[in-house]
Amino acid sequence: MVKVNPFYADLLPSYLFRDMGNKAREVKEKNPDAKIISLGIGDVSRHIPNTSIKAMQNALTEMADDSTMRGYPPELGYAFLREAIAKNDYQDFGIDISVDEVFVSDGSKCDVANVQELFAADCVVAIPDPVYPVYRDSNIMAGRKIVYLPCRAENNFMPEMPKEKVDVIYLCSPNNPTGAVASKEQLKAFVDYASKNDALIIFDSAYKEFVRDKSVPKSIYEIAGAKKVAIETRSFSKTAGFTGVRCAYMVVPKELSGLNAMWIRRTSTKFNGVSYIVQKGAEAVFSDEGKKEVAEVISYYLENAKIIKKGLEEIGFKCFGGDNAPYIWADISKTGLSSWGFFEKLLSRAFVICTPGSGFGKCGEGFMRFSALGKREDALEAIMRIKDLKEKGEI
Ligand code: MLT
Repeated sequence: MVKVNPFYADLLPSYLFRDMGNKAREVKEKNPDAKIISLGIGDVSRHIPNTSIKAMQNALTEMADDSTMRGYPPELGYAFLREAIAKNDYQDFGIDISVDEVFVSDGSKCDVANVQELFAADCVVAIPDPVYPVYRDSNIMAGRKIVYLPCRAENNFMPEMPKEKVDVIYLCSPNNPTGAVASKEQLKAFVDYASKNDALIIFDSAYKEFVRDKSVPKSIYEIAGAKKVAIETRSFSKTAGFTGVRCAYMVVPKELSGLNAMWIRRTSTKFNGVSYIVQKGAEAVFSDEGKKEVAEVISYYLENAKIIKKGLEEIGFKCFGGDNAPYIWADISKTGLSSWGFFEKLLSRAFVICTPGSGFGKCGEGFMRFSALGKREDALEAIMRIKDLKEKGEI
């Protein structure tokens, strides 16, 4: 037998969303007629913009003709998409990001998991708790020391500053799972910490399009000095419905001593790029029509979030997030159930899936995450079913 990576033994036995999926399948098998509603994994229910669909259809037609077909895409992304990203997502907002600092990928999950390959094995990594599990698991797999930064209600779920020197800090705003958003001052404190301690920030802004409050930063690069200390990841998944199409990007500034060149080296060895068809669809997101369609869909999800949050508050749960984010973070500790206990109860008694807070880390115990990315009718129905359980005294 091959000698295996010993650090896998330090992981939880199964990935959170896989666990939830398995449990949901078991309940479905026992209750084949039940309509299970998912407010669990943050998957979208609205399709990609019509303008992206048209662009992808045209791209497919080009691919069907020998004179216009394309073979391997450039590993780092087609220039047309890298330019559209640099212009529309940064330069138009006065942020100085150039085309050769933007790298197109097939998803932020992969980017946030892969980026740690650039860091030495003995780097100490700071990870918020609760957190999107990929930051944690990818560093556990690499055997790195992890320092957890607790996020608590009294601190608006912003991570506490590291108490010891760390080399890498992962941040996410709007936050998955808590739905909290970081203010400019809070991000500045982390940028200052990173500058002073020679640390690097990985800033995940996959949910930036949900920010409607103008005072809330969408990019870490809105903070002076951040280009010298931060990598940023963004995605078309939640903003433009690309979860099933796959397209994202990562910004690695050239100021980050050598990391830009290392990322190019890594990516050209390990990746053959995102398909032309998909990148054409992503480019169309930045057209005037695409931007209008995205804004409309985001408003739809934010309205779902309002409905879910209000419903849960009426039941008596204190809720956070959901205003500039598609996630509502509900304190269910008064029910006396653990997060997984609440998950099982809702799934088996109301056929509603939501995500146990403890799946995101120890500090998530006693909380549940509700996703607003589903259909309106499902959000309404789920809240009705949960209210019903409450009336029956089951939660
Ligand atoms: C989530 O529900 O946290 C996300 O949808 C998972 C992901 O983006 O991989």
